[in-house]
Order: sequence, then structure tokens, then C-alpha cells
Amino acid sequence: MNRPVRKAVFPVGGLGTRFLPATKAMPKEMLPVVDKPLIQYAVEEAQAAGIEEFIFVTGRGKSAIENHFDRSVELEALLAEKAKGDVLKELLGSVPEPGQVSYTRQMDPLGLGHAVWCARYLVGDEPFAVLLADDLIKADTSCLKQMVDAQAETGGNMIALMDVPHDHTSRYGIIAPGTVNGRLTEVTGLVEKPKPAEAPSTQAVVGRYILQPEVFKHLAGQQKGAGGEIQLTDALARMIGGAPFHGYRFEGTRFDCGDKVGFFEANLAFALEREDLRDGVIAFIKKLGL
Ligand code: UTP
Repeated sequence: MNRPVRKAVFPVGGLGTRFLPATKAMPKEMLPVVDKPLIQYAVEEAQAAGIEEFIFVTGRGKSAIENHFDRSVELEALLAEKAKGDVLKELLGSVPEPGQVSYTRQMDPLGLGHAVWCARYLVGDEPFAVLLADDLIKADTSCLKQMVDAQAETGGNMIALMDVPHDHTSRYGIIAPGTVNGRLTEVTGLVEKPKPAEAPSTQAVVGRYILQPEVFKHLAGQQKGAGGEIQLTDALARMIGGAPFHGYRFEGTRFDCGDKVGFFEANLAFALEREDLRDGVIAFIKKLGL
């Protein structure tokens, strides 16, 4: 029987070197797009997909994330005193219920595959989702919800897919596609960061995954791949041919917030959707006269 996806893993143990010095003392995942940290967008996306347990794989210097998903008693009292009920309500609404969140530490940032492997005891023997907060996805229906619904039909493993320019393949995990059925594409091969000439397609893996617990066995070998890191993609490649494995072309726009241009694009796109900001932002763009 196809088991439901109840747990989500948020790997937040990376160093975020591309955003230094901002990330020297602050986790990359706490960078705000408009006024909300990246990690909160990811948690809300998971909540909208029906996820009940939120597992954070953290590292040194990431305590701001733990504090963010906790009550802030002093701040709450102050907001109540100042009659800022709306802000208070929003603040409390974003905190998962007690007991829904757990943390484990990736003691060394050895790569995404290693971070996911660190969650093995908290995940146990059931399918789970992985969300990378720096891949911010703006969609009418939560991207993970779209995938959870699709995976309920297909079973097995699923990754989010998007098409990228041919000369960008070396930035992504790239699939070899099999049969296509609507938004679903069968995955017959998977390579991490191939050079354009060696890429099996231009369909890239985006940071949303639904994985079977067997992935932990494939990660246990701790084999290093591209960039000397323990890559999740390599473990996934070894799972092809076992359980069903699909890519899902989600509805929505993905912003690479691990990259400076992508981060600015996300801020602009989200600000333009806000009634309180839109006019001011447009006026500024017009003033630039680009
Ligand atoms: P990235 O490779 O984009 O993040 O990993 P990074 O290493 O933090 O950033 P740069 O390249 O140095 O700027 C994508 C996601 O995987 C997590 C990161 O926190 C990020 O959410 N990650 C990466 C880990 O949790 N552990 C790792 O060892 C590596």
C-alpha cells in the first residue's frame, strides 16, 4: 500500500558562502524575502501539503532557526500591549504546534546527501519529503502539495522538475527522461552537475523531493560526488529501477535564493504581489528608467 507522506526534512546545515558576509552569523535560510524568512516559506508550503512533522537538519550557528519556530514571550507581550493584534496573530500562526518540530545536527557540512542521512532516525521507516528553503517556489497550490497528490497515485520516489537553459546544466542535478504522462516524467537516469555536452537532458531537479526510506541505505556509504560533497542525487541515481521514480513538472515559479540575482528576483516578484508595496516598488522601477 502507498503510505502517506507525514514528515518533511529541511536541510539547513549548509554554510551559505555565496551570501557572505550576511551569512557569517545568520543562517542563509533566515534571509527574508520581503518580510518573511526563506525557511518560513518552506515550512508553510509543507503545512499546506498536510505535513505533520518538521525535521530540521541544522549546524553550528543555526540557532536563529530554532528561535524562529518558537514562542517569543517578551515580543508577544509587547505586541499585545501595543494593540498590534494582527501582527501577533500572524506571528503565532506561523509556529508549528508543540512537538511537531524536531532538530538534529549535521556536525560537518559534508553535502546535501549527508544532511538528509542525518535525519534517518527521526524519519524512521516511512516516506518523507525534503524541502530546500533556498529554492523558493511561488505557486497557487503549494508545490509540495501538488507533488504529494501526484505521488499518492504513483507511489515511489518523486522529484520536482523544471527546464533549464542548456548552458546551465552544470548547476543542477539533471535527469534522463523516460515516458511522459502529463506533468509526470519517468526518471531513467540522474546526474549531478553534468557539463552541457554530457547532460542527458535540460530537465533539472529543483529542491523538492518525496523519498522512500530506502534512500538512507544508499546514503550510508557516504560516497563523495561532485564538488567532493556527499550528493543526494547520487543516492537517488542508485535507486532508479527499484520503486517507481518520477519527476513532477510543478505549476509555479522557482526562485534560486541561494544565488544573489535569484534572491533579488524573488524579492521583487513577492513585493509586486503585495498591495501595500506594489505601487511604491513600481514607482521606484520607473524612476530608474532602465
Ligand atoms: P547549497 O549547496 O545551495 O547551500 O545547498 P550552501 O552550501 O549552504 O550554500 P553556498 O553554496 O555555500 O552558498 C542547498 C541546501 O542544502 C543544505 C543547505 O543549507 C541548503 O538549504 N545543505 C547543504 C546542508 O544542509 N548541508 C550541507 O552539507 C550542504
